[in-house]
Amino acid sequence: MEKLRSQNWFGKTGKDGFIYRAWMKNQGIPDDMFDGRPVIGICNTWSELTPCNAHFRDLAESVKKGVYESGGYPVEFPVMSLGETLIKPTAMLYRNLASMDVEESIRANPIDGVVLLCGCDKTTPSLIMGACSVDIPTLVISGGPMLKGHWRGKDIGTSDVWRFDEAFKLGEINEQQLTEAEGCMARTQGHCAVMGTASTMATMVEALGLSLPNNAAIPAADVRRKVISQLSGRRIVEMVKEDLTLSKILTREAFENAIMVNAAIGGSTNFVIHLLAIAGRIGVDLNMEDFDKFSQHIPLLANLQPSGKFFMEDLYYAGGLPAVIKEMKNVLHNNALTVNGKAIGANSESAEVFDRNIVATMEAPFKENSGIAVVRGNLAPNGAVIKPSAATPALMTHRGKAVVFETIEDYHARIEDPDLDIDENSIMVLKNVGPKGYPGMAEVGNMGIPKKLLEKGVHDLVRISDGRMSGTGFGTVVLHVSPEAADGGNLALVYNGDYISLDVPNRTLNLEVSDEELAERRKKWQPIDLNISRGYVSMYIKHVEQAHLGADMDFLKGKSGSIVTRDSH
Ligand code: FES
Repeated sequence: MEKLRSQNWFGKTGKDGFIYRAWMKNQGIPDDMFDGRPVIGICNTWSELTPCNAHFRDLAESVKKGVYESGGYPVEFPVMSLGETLIKPTAMLYRNLASMDVEESIRANPIDGVVLLCGCDKTTPSLIMGACSVDIPTLVISGGPMLKGHWRGKDIGTSDVWRFDEAFKLGEINEQQLTEAEGCMARTQGHCAVMGTASTMATMVEALGLSLPNNAAIPAADVRRKVISQLSGRRIVEMVKEDLTLSKILTREAFENAIMVNAAIGGSTNFVIHLLAIAGRIGVDLNMEDFDKFSQHIPLLANLQPSGKFFMEDLYYAGGLPAVIKEMKNVLHNNALTVNGKAIGANSESAEVFDRNIVATMEAPFKENSGIAVVRGNLAPNGAVIKPSAATPALMTHRGKAVVFETIEDYHARIEDPDLDIDENSIMVLKNVGPKGYPGMAEVGNMGIPKKLLEKGVHDLVRISDGRMSGTGFGTVVLHVSPEAADGGNLALVYNGDYISLDVPNRTLNLEVSDEELAERRKKWQPIDLNISRGYVSMYIKHVEQAHLGADMDFLKGKSGSIVTRDSH
């Protein structure tokens, strides 16, 4: 093994080495921990403000055990943690900021390999993006899903939040019942129990080869989550000795595998934006077409909410993600390398499906149409996304009149107005919720349907925006319209009553307004004034790229590696 980067600190003699080691020793560290053994960073997103990751101190202890067992020296460090439910205006605004924290923390410190503890939605892409820009041996452990909730005889999870909301509007449940359901849903540690964004990210991690097999679905409350953490601690030390860096695993084939697996499990639309950003950091050429191309022929194999019926723990009991991957062996790049040093195909060879209600075969899937469809047209020249498996089939080809909301505030102010001109054929359009316009591209794209339509039994309309949707959401929702309204995209020029046509089978999204009329409207258009002139958010607005590029900041793309060029000691 070559001299490790941590030896540029701990291997020094004289005053410099004294300083590097002496202060570490105030934590009770013996001399031999600095003898040249691999130093493993444990990048922890534990926070009481990120309840999905609140058990991560325990997981970190398991990782440490494994690192010691393999002869390494573990050092745990905190990074910015993004809790999806509390952070305002939206956790996505800070994904890139957290990635900067991760990148600089890894590079600046005496770390030879790193274990990323990821859970709640944005904590996964932000940590991986940051680590990619350093590119040392890296292994990911996901926090695991919550156990499913139980309320009044029903299994419940995050997708029920949307159903509760509708039922409450219709008077079918009352405030007291809602409060009761709150305590029943999130009843154990872990992230959302359905195939929302956190589970999608955990699945992405395993499909990319960045975790040990079975990482995606082991529930947080299951002791096997601690076991996989300990085994990951053992393995990262070996990865350092093998110099198995991120870029050796994150090949073009790994990304294609992730896209195909995401389609098979009915993963979140947020997957698109995060995978594009990760590819941009590691330097793999990936674009929107790839998502359509590689998911088009992949059917839905996992019967999980919101596309299906079950929960993440059910997937684990049914064989876990390796069982799904094995079903896909005829389409995946089976030779793609993973962190355990084996190929992804080899890792799933012994997997078995124990419940065909939860994991289907490619020949008899739960749905033929899965994955992410990318639509284009004059309303979204750079593309927009829709998740067919969570949409209403009858609305996949639809022409209707636009009901336009200029901002999210405008939507809230008017959606329940009895005079709002809206019916079951309308198309709801929401502007200024994109990367720059919100800012941070909020998860508001699956706008709630007005009560007067719910009472008529209308539970879905075509909805179009430059925002995102929670991975737990569903409906015929067109998202990530690029360019966004705040950047002068044609979305900004839609007027109430314009006709819009959506044709998902033919991948088109068009505003039926002539180019001449659009040019006239553009002369009158004014970008939204957010009145933000300082701090991180003003930097974000200046530098964030559009959704079709992954909404990373332009100056963060690529990597700077692990070399520290200046040394003050
Ligand atoms: Fe954290 Fe859903 S809120 S994963």
